[in-house]
Amino acid sequence: MNYALLQGKKGIIFGALNDQSIAWKVAERCHEEGAEFILSNAPIAMRMGELNTLAEKTGSEVIPADATSTEDLEKLFDAAVAKFGKLDFILHSIGMSVNIRKGKPYTDLNYDYLQKGWDVSAVSFHKVMKMAWDKDCMNEWGSILALTYIAAQRVFPNYGDMADNKAFLESIARSFGYYFGEKKVRVNTISQSPVMTKAGAGVKGITGFFNFADHMSPLGNADALDCANYCVAMFSDLTKMVTMQNLFHDGGFSMVGVSQKVVDKYEEEL
Ligand SMILES: NC(=O)c1ccc[n+]([C@@H]2O[C@H](COP(=O)([O-])OP(=O)(O)OC[C@H]3O[C@@H](n4cnc5c(N)ncnc54)[C@H](O)[C@@H]3O)[C@@H](O)[C@H]2O)c1
Repeated sequence: MNYALLQGKKGIIFGALNDQSIAWKVAERCHEEGAEFILSNAPIAMRMGELNTLAEKTGSEVIPADATSTEDLEKLFDAAVAKFGKLDFILHSIGMSVNIRKGKPYTDLNYDYLQKGWDVSAVSFHKVMKMAWDKDCMNEWGSILALTYIAAQRVFPNYGDMADNKAFLESIARSFGYYFGEKKVRVNTISQSPVMTKAGAGVKGITGFFNFADHMSPLGNADALDCANYCVAMFSDLTKMVTMQNLFHDGGFSMVGVSQKVVDKYEEEL
C-alpha cells in the first residue's frame, strides 16, 4: 500500500547489504512512499555488489562509507548536501560484534574486538549525527532513526557484547536527541523483533531465539517489512513530536512475562 507519506523527502539509508537486510526493505518502502535517498554501506560490503540492484530499483545513488570513519562520512554528507540540499531522514541500520563473529563468550571478551564492535554498532551513530549537526543539514521536523534490540534491557545469552553496544546506542540516541530538539529534529531507536538476516544469523542459537520470541509475542514476531513500515511512519510528518524514545516494535514481546504457548510447551515436556 502506498500512502505517499514521504513525498518530497530526502535522506540517507545506511546498512542495506542484501535483500534480507532490514535497511533493504526500508529503502524499498521509502521509495514506494515517494522519498529520494542515498544508499550507503561499508566499502567492504560493496564487493558483494548486491546494493546496485537496490539502487537501480529505487533510483538511488550508492556512496560507500565506513560509518566509523569521519573522513568517509564527511564525503558522504557533502555529496548528500550537494544532491539534495537539506535532509529529512537518516536510517542507521548498522551492527557488528567481532567477539560474536569470533565466537568469544561474554565471560571472555577480547577488548580490542569490543572496542571495534562498539565503534561500529554505537559510536558510529554519534559520528553520523555529529556530521549532520556540524553541516546543519537536517530540515526542521527531520527524523533520525537507529535499529536496536531488547538485549539492551534484558539478558539474552549469546547476544554477548552486542547487548552493551545496543545499550550504548540507545543512550546516544537519547543524548543527541536532546540537542537535536533545538533544531526541531527527532531522534529515536526502534527495538525490533529478531529477523533472519546476515547480522541476525551471526548470533548463536538464532533459530531457537526466533521461535521463542514468536511464541512469546501476542502478535508474533514483526518481520523486516513490518519494521520498514514503522520506519516510514517515523520518517513521516505523522510522528513529528516523538523523540528520544526507544520504540519497541516486537509484536508485544517486551511486555509479556510468559505466554500460554510457552507454558504449554513446558507442560508437555514435564
Ligand atoms: N536481525 C535481527 O534480528 C535484528 C533485530 C533487532 C535489531 N537489529 C539491528 O538492525 C540493524 C540491521 O541489521 P540487519 O539484521 O538488517 O543485518 P545486516 O547484516 O543486513 O545489516 C548490518 C549492516 O551493517 C553494515 N556495517 C557493518 N559494519 C559497518 C561499517 N563499519 N560501516 C557501515 N556499515 C557497516 C553491514 O555491511 C550491513 O549492511 C542492526 O543494527 C541490527 O543490530 C537486527
